[in-house]
Amino acid sequence: MTSEAIHPERSWTEEKLQILEGYLKAYTTALKNRDFHLTYVDAFAGTGYVSRDATQSLATWGDDLDDMSRDVLQGSTRRAIAVDDKPFDSFIFVEQNPEHAAALRRMQHEFGERDIKVERAEANGFLQMWCDAQNRLLGVPWDKPGNRQRAVVFLDPFATQVEWQTVSSIARTQSIDLWILFPLSAITRILPRNRQPDESYAATLDNIYGSDEWRTLYRTRVRRTLFGDELEIIRAEQEAIVQLYLERLSSVFGAVSPSPKWFNNSRNSPLFAFMFAAANPGRGGRIALDIANHLLRNW
Ligand SMILES: C[S@@+](CC[C@H](N)C(=O)[O-])C[C@H]1O[C@@H](n2cnc3c(N)ncnc32)[C@H](O)[C@@H]1O
Repeated sequence: MTSEAIHPERSWTEEKLQILEGYLKAYTTALKNRDFHLTYVDAFAGTGYVSRDATQSLATWGDDLDDMSRDVLQGSTRRAIAVDDKPFDSFIFVEQNPEHAAALRRMQHEFGERDIKVERAEANGFLQMWCDAQNRLLGVPWDKPGNRQRAVVFLDPFATQVEWQTVSSIARTQSIDLWILFPLSAITRILPRNRQPDESYAATLDNIYGSDEWRTLYRTRVRRTLFGDELEIIRAEQEAIVQLYLERLSSVFGAVSPSPKWFNNSRNSPLFAFMFAAANPGRGGRIALDIANHLLRNW
C-alpha cells in the first residue's frame, strides 16, 4: 500500500511530488516515439524518501516499502525512477550530504537495471559545470540539429541555495525543462517590509535574482503626520516577489508557466512557489508548457 492511500489528506510536499511525477510521465510519453536521449537530473536529491511535512529527507529509512508509514513518502528520485511507460534513459542525482548520498547509492544498487549516477557534490557547482560541458561538447544550443539530448532538472532546495547562474546555465542549453521550488518564505524573511534589507543580505538577493532588480520591490512614499511629512519605505507584497522571479526566468527561458503553485504552511502562510520553465524556445517548449500549466492549475 502506498502512503498516499493510507493518508487521504495531501500535504504540500505530496502535491509538489505528484505534480512533478505527473509531468515526468506526460513528458516521457510525449517524447516516446522521438529518438531522444532523456535524462532526469535531481540536483537536491535527498535520499529517496521524504517526510510528509518536508522537514527532513530520511537517510536511515529502510528500503522495505512495507515499512512505509503514514508520514513517509517516496521522494522525487524514486518517483522519477518509477516512471516506466517510457523510462528516462539516464538519471543524475546530486546530493551534498554524505549520508543522503550513501542512501542514494543503495538505491542505485536496488535499481541496477537503470542508468543512475550519484554525484556527491554541491548542486550549483555541479549543474553549471554539467550544462556548460554539454554545451561545449554538443555545440550551442544543446538542441542543434542532430543533437538528441533532452533533460528535466528538478531543483528542490530547503531554502535560498539556488544561484541565478545555475538557472541561466540550464536555460542556455535550450533543451532542459526546469521545475524549481522558489523559497518564498526564506526570501520574504530577508526582505523587510519597512526598510531596505541589510547589505549583507543584498548579495544573497543578487545571487538569487541574478541582478539587483529586487530593489524595485521597494518604493518610498510620503506620510503626513501631525509633526510634518515623513518618508516611509514600503516593500511590495509577496505576489510581486514571485512575479519578479518569473520575469527573470522569462528573460532566459523559452517558455515559463505564468501561474506557479503556491504552497502554504498549516497557518496558511506561503512557504514556496513551485515554478516551471522550458528552455526550448520552439514548439517543444510550448507543448511542455501546456502540460505543466495543466498540472499546476488542476492539481
Ligand atoms: C528538500 S530535500 C530534497 C528532497 C527530494 N527532492 C525528495 O523529494 O526526496 C533537499 C536536499 O538537498 C540537499 N542539499 C542542500 N543543499 C545542497 C546543495 N547546495 N547541493 C546539493 N545538495 C544540497 C540536502 O542535503 C537535502 O537532502
